[in-house]
Amino acid sequence: MAETTMDRATPSLFSPYKMGELQLSHRVVLAPMTRCRALNNVPNSALVEYYSQRATNGGFLITEGTMISPTAAGFPHVPGIFNKEQVEAWKHVVGAVHAKGAVIFCQLWHVGRASHPALQPGGIAPISSTDKPISKRWRVLMPDGSHEIYPNPRKLDTSEVPELVQHYRQAAINAIEAGFDGVEIHGAHGYLIDQFMKDGINERTDEYGGSLENRCKFIMQVVEAVVSAVGADRVGVRISPAIDHLDAMDSNPLSLGLAVIERLNKLQTDCGSRLAYLHVTQPRYTAYGQTEAGRHGSADEEARMMRTWRRAYQGTFICSGGFTRQLGIEAVADGDADLVAYGRLFISNPDLVQRLKLNAPLNKYVRATFYTHDPVVGYTDYPFLDLPKSRL
Ligand SMILES: Cc1cc2nc3c(=O)[nH]c(=O)nc-3n(C[C@H](O)[C@H](O)[C@H](O)COP(=O)(O)O)c2cc1C
Repeated sequence: MAETTMDRATPSLFSPYKMGELQLSHRVVLAPMTRCRALNNVPNSALVEYYSQRATNGGFLITEGTMISPTAAGFPHVPGIFNKEQVEAWKHVVGAVHAKGAVIFCQLWHVGRASHPALQPGGIAPISSTDKPISKRWRVLMPDGSHEIYPNPRKLDTSEVPELVQHYRQAAINAIEAGFDGVEIHGAHGYLIDQFMKDGINERTDEYGGSLENRCKFIMQVVEAVVSAVGADRVGVRISPAIDHLDAMDSNPLSLGLAVIERLNKLQTDCGSRLAYLHVTQPRYTAYGQTEAGRHGSADEEARMMRTWRRAYQGTFICSGGFTRQLGIEAVADGDADLVAYGRLFISNPDLVQRLKLNAPLNKYVRATFYTHDPVVGYTDYPFLDLPKSRL
């Protein structure tokens, strides 16, 4: 498509964007969101409907966190991508999304210590970089709908880490086999990779703990393994250096973010190809936007930190966390982001892209059904805009 002068001068939330070889028609992305509708960890027709409702021609969707192995789940009924049945089931989701002309990446997830024996095979303890549990400030959602405190994890031995890296690699290969356009490595929000990166959690004395170099080792081994398996341009990475979800505090989030970015830039240079993108969760809210308790500094400081990371990273930069229509428009126009991922607003507005374009009213989301298991209620029953045909 010919680029107009206008496009070049002022990128807009609604203007096209080329992400590697993938041509997107707008910059509004579906943020990855756990929805607990994949009964027994297998995607089903409810997921086909949910993702297809949110797909637009040239739009970009990122799936919910998807288990890379049997020990990866921290919520009931989250999908996996580690066995044949799951791969086959995902093909229906991907097929429906592609039929609408959208691009879809699978988010690769291991929760580490953010789990419970009730969610683990054989009732074993969850694994982590540490043997410290998550504090009582947080609760895990149990299969019966109750909430429990997090249990003591089992600290991984140094010799066990390479096997985990392999699980990410195999999950990425499986995702490509299922037809996904790429994968997003979930290195954010206090889950396994973040449990290695943050100095508020990782107290290891081996090659995976201590210095920034060592704390970045696990994420970089995962990224390198996944890139070598499926190609850099099919790999996105999500991080949240300044977010303390599940106690994932770091004493110097700015430096941690820069350390990861420096290494991703180097990897891109070394392999002669760009990653698909870097996705950073805005520090202005906690990962799930529930409170502002996780703030590390003032709004200005946080905006400066995001800009510093954005400028440092050599490639497509996705922001998410607390974006309204206006904030999304400004972020793209000001060059603070190439793409903006929307979470909760996309839960309650399957046609969010159209509503944002038209500046139409938005449905309110119902938090109580975020993580319930009904295939319809609070999942695929949010209404679409009722527009006269002339405006469609
Ligand atoms: C119900 C729910 C589930 C989420 N699950 C995930 C997830 O699986 N992986 C992830 O990286 N982020 C997850 N998030 C975080 C979102 O991707 C997003 O960063 C967050 O909702 C803030 O964006 P928003 O203000 O537009 O909602 C989840 C958020 C919500 C509300």
